[in-house]
Amino acid sequence: MNQEHNAATFFNSFAETFDTIYDQKRNPFMRWVDGKFRSDMFIRYALTFEALDHLRGGTVLDVGCGSGPYIAEAFKRGADRITGIDPAPNMLTLVRHRLAQAGLAEDRCRLIEGLFPGVPVEPHDFAIVMGVMDYVEDAQVFLKALRPVVKQVAVISFPSEHWFRTPFRKFRYQLRQCPVYFYNDAGIRKLCETAGFADVRIQKIPGAGMDFHVSLRP
Ligand SMILES: C[S@@+](CC[C@H](N)C(=O)[O-])C[C@H]1O[C@@H](n2cnc3c(N)ncnc32)[C@H](O)[C@@H]1O
Repeated sequence: MNQEHNAATFFNSFAETFDTIYDQKRNPFMRWVDGKFRSDMFIRYALTFEALDHLRGGTVLDVGCGSGPYIAEAFKRGADRITGIDPAPNMLTLVRHRLAQAGLAEDRCRLIEGLFPGVPVEPHDFAIVMGVMDYVEDAQVFLKALRPVVKQVAVISFPSEHWFRTPFRKFRYQLRQCPVYFYNDAGIRKLCETAGFADVRIQKIPGAGMDFHVSLRP
């Protein structure tokens, strides 16, 4: 079993809990923890829809869609068709549930259970890859496969190294047998340019933020 399958197994068992982070359904202590240490998740969500301010009528690919918060928001903002890819079936069940509850167009959403790359995907106008590169063993292979399926803009988060928090995160995920990978600004630029993206914009999430938010154009 390769390491990304380990991530899939971990996220399959963690799906329900992960989903509660977005809806702030956790107990007060965990909400405090999320606000303090997971603020990146909310900031990258806002930055993504700032970068994709023209997705009305377009097609969207969400790689590592998880429980589907970006899919629901993209539909609300007028996306025409969306493809979500995730290897964790429990995450995909949550996407269907989210869309049904919000009365959003399930028939215009295609969900694929699998790891990217490795599943057939046609080109889309926009791609969203949030919180996924943390678990990708070979980022170069991933980005090279992403480039031909993006027609306009891709937005991707990459976790950065932090002297204090990174060793703890590595240790926690080691216990879960789910390896995590970290990046720096120069490395991200090289990976994206080598993959064939011409316009690479890298933004470091400020404050406690650990993520780079990157927008790419072919
Ligand atoms: C931290 S969650 C993020 C979910 C969602 N993008 C979000 O930001 O709310 C990471 C998700 O990526 C999925 N994943 C990990 N590696 C993947 C890969 N190579 N291809 C597709 N999905 C992947 C996991 O199963 C998990 O659901």
